[in-house]
Amino acid sequence: MAQDASSRISGFHKMSPDERRDTVQRVAGLDAAAVGQLGKPGNLEGHVADHMIENMVATFAIPVGIATNMRVDGRDVLVPMATEESSVVAAVCNSARQCYEAGGFTTSVSGGEMIAQVQLVDVSDPQAARIRILERKAEVAALCDACDPMLVRLGGGFRDLEVRIVAAESGAMVVTHLIVDTRDAMGANTVNTMAERLAPFIEEWGGGKVSLRILSNLADRRLARARATWPLAAIGGAGVRDSMIAAYRFAAADPYRAATHNKGVMNGVSAVVLATGNDTRAVEAGAHAYAARDGRYTSLTTWEAAADGSLVGAIELPMAVGLVGGATKIHPTAQACLAILGVDTAAGLARVIAAVGLAQNFGAMKALVTVGIQQGHMGLHANNVAIAVGAVGDEVGALAAILVERRQVRQDVAAAELDRLRTRG
Ligand code: MEV
Repeated sequence: MAQDASSRISGFHKMSPDERRDTVQRVAGLDAAAVGQLGKPGNLEGHVADHMIENMVATFAIPVGIATNMRVDGRDVLVPMATEESSVVAAVCNSARQCYEAGGFTTSVSGGEMIAQVQLVDVSDPQAARIRILERKAEVAALCDACDPMLVRLGGGFRDLEVRIVAAESGAMVVTHLIVDTRDAMGANTVNTMAERLAPFIEEWGGGKVSLRILSNLADRRLARARATWPLAAIGGAGVRDSMIAAYRFAAADPYRAATHNKGVMNGVSAVVLATGNDTRAVEAGAHAYAARDGRYTSLTTWEAAADGSLVGAIELPMAVGLVGGATKIHPTAQACLAILGVDTAAGLARVIAAVGLAQNFGAMKALVTVGIQQGHMGLHANNVAIAVGAVGDEVGALAAILVERRQVRQDVAAAELDRLRTRG
């Protein structure tokens, strides 16, 4: 941005995307190539993108790859994954291949309930207030269900009422949880509407003052689970198994390692969440909060040896995803990805995502305890480096192969090798 340029642009939100790009070009001092790049059409039409967020100037393309070899609850499924990270898709394909003959992934869900929180502060008698609110369960149910009759017709709606007393530094807060089955919607809008609707009643019944009214991303009534068995012959023997179990124990015991271990899980989870137009941040927040539910951050997965010696992995994490509403419904690529998956319920989608998270974790741990992460990663990363230095078409593969062979996947080496390739013709 030019030194004296201002970020205060009046009426920016009212401009068309073309006008916004012109304005950004002027204010940020962009060259024609950069502004041309922003204006390129992708597979999300400008008029759709312009209605999805404010101040839209461009769309951002991320590769979508297909994870093959996935068998989930006895059904073979192709899983679309949107990710910028090399080797994420390949790792799932490899991991799933190694447990395919043993049956693939078995999954389950705990239910489809979201939680909305209504926070009440300045309550003189929090214990009694809690009981007074609980007494109103039938009214709460009726008020919540009246917010979304369509949801009720689809079999969803209010399920339960909880009132917690949260000891905060400022004193006791009375926190009401509205527990709502949101069926095939992620449900954020639904439960937020209910929380706002209920707020004045909670205030009246509890005394005190309502402050926040918002869902909790710790969706622990909407857990997705998956497990799978990897026979010893498929994974390279008992030594690999034991090293993988030891790697898991490291994550289970040490939050520094658990953060990386779970990041690997989320490489898979978030890629499917994004490909299906769901809210990656909601799922990530839920996963990490769940990983710390006992007061210490730990692994989202577990790994053990079965009686026959096989390696058994399992995962359990909140999975607030939907098939209707939000970007899922209006992003045409998300719709196409859902068609590839062939799931017809949010729970079905959640199950597949859990399976992918487990497969991803298997792949990362196996690489880490055997060849190391860089070997597989660098092969794919070499393509990115080749593209970054200007390789095009067949040059990309040729240059990447040279970098891998030299074990020097670096931009300076790539630039020099590309020159050499071109000189040799
Ligand atoms: C990289 O994106 C993910 C890993 O670091 C996960 C792990 O260490 O388990 C490889």
